[in-house]
Amino acid sequence: MANPPIRLLDLMRQTEDPLVINLAAGIPSADFLPLDALRTALEGELASRAREMFSYHRPEGASLLREAIRDYLGVRGVGVQPEQILVTTGCSGALATMMNTVLKRGDTVVCEGPAYYGQLELLRAIGVKFRTVNTAVGQEPDPGKWEKALKAKPKPKLLVVTSTLSNPSGATLKEEWRPRMVEMCRKMGIPILEDDIYGDLLGRARPKPLRAYDDGSTVLYVTSFSKTVAPGLRIGFALPGKWMDAAADRQCRQTIHGGVPPEFITASFLRSGRMEGHLEMLRSVYAKRRELAGGILSRELPEGVRADDPSGGYMLWVRGGRPGLMEDVSKQCLAKGVAVVGGGIFFANPPKEACFRLNCARATPEDLARGVGIFCEVLKSAVVRKK
Ligand SMILES: Cc1ncc(COP(=O)(O)O)c(C=O)c1O
Repeated sequence: MANPPIRLLDLMRQTEDPLVINLAAGIPSADFLPLDALRTALEGELASRAREMFSYHRPEGASLLREAIRDYLGVRGVGVQPEQILVTTGCSGALATMMNTVLKRGDTVVCEGPAYYGQLELLRAIGVKFRTVNTAVGQEPDPGKWEKALKAKPKPKLLVVTSTLSNPSGATLKEEWRPRMVEMCRKMGIPILEDDIYGDLLGRARPKPLRAYDDGSTVLYVTSFSKTVAPGLRIGFALPGKWMDAAADRQCRQTIHGGVPPEFITASFLRSGRMEGHLEMLRSVYAKRRELAGGILSRELPEGVRADDPSGGYMLWVRGGRPGLMEDVSKQCLAKGVAVVGGGIFFANPPKEACFRLNCARATPEDLARGVGIFCEVLKSAVVRKK
């Protein structure tokens, strides 16, 4: 009997096991949270705005936060007004709202292969048909590749892409391709759902989001502060463009709005001017973690299997060997106390080679080194066995 599909729910629950070195879930480390700044923000907001903080407010999100997000986006080359911003429950809330606003059962969607598992789960629940465009670090699809997928019949209703440091591949769309992609989709009348959740982890040289090249007609931008400030805040947002009213209406029917205290805390944190310094710190610790894990992988991976270097973020994508290795290796690693996720779940259509995503952020450096070592050992013997 076939195994039941792994759910995001199962992956999130697995993260609670303290006995496992968890290289599987895509969550950041709690060791690098800006706790002092968040505490100051909370205390300041409690002292000055407690009554508003514990009341209902505007369904699209607190004005203070939407203004702070406008400034945050301005620095990143995206010029919008607060009224164009819809605050959501994490990036997941933004993805769900936008996908459900734009799509219906039977529509065709163009997405990355591999793509973030949560995006695929949401799209499957809507009942869309997938058309995938392969991507990898150094093999990112150029506008011509996207165009081919967009021009095929039936005409797709949406293109979904994590534009910078895509999860799990680590791929980043080149800056020079971005305006062309936006223009191409605008002409074809196909909206782009741009997930930019990892953009800030790439560094100062990060390309401008696709949304920076759009007038609001084509790119639906979504992101959150989960990978940078604190996932527990659950603060994300969308720029729904011409779908603003429909998206706000959908979200209002579902939740009215999210928790107000996290909105106030996030607004205060963004206004404090501590964001950019905090991001510098994260980029530097994650670079060290990637280097540590990447060094072990480059020495220990069996022949024919390689690890991509995404030059940002905290995940490594390992690929090569027969697809059958994925289940075998994940199971054996877990038996040895290391959780790794077989990359098959990140594909709408089964991948042609084995792949694994390793999270380098959460484990301590010692556990990371041990976990990656065990992973390489298990993979090596599985490759030999299958020969
Ligand atoms: C590409 C991508 N989008 C969205 C999310 C979910 O973000 P949030 O925790 O803000 O809902 C993740 C989390 O791993 C992700 O990798």
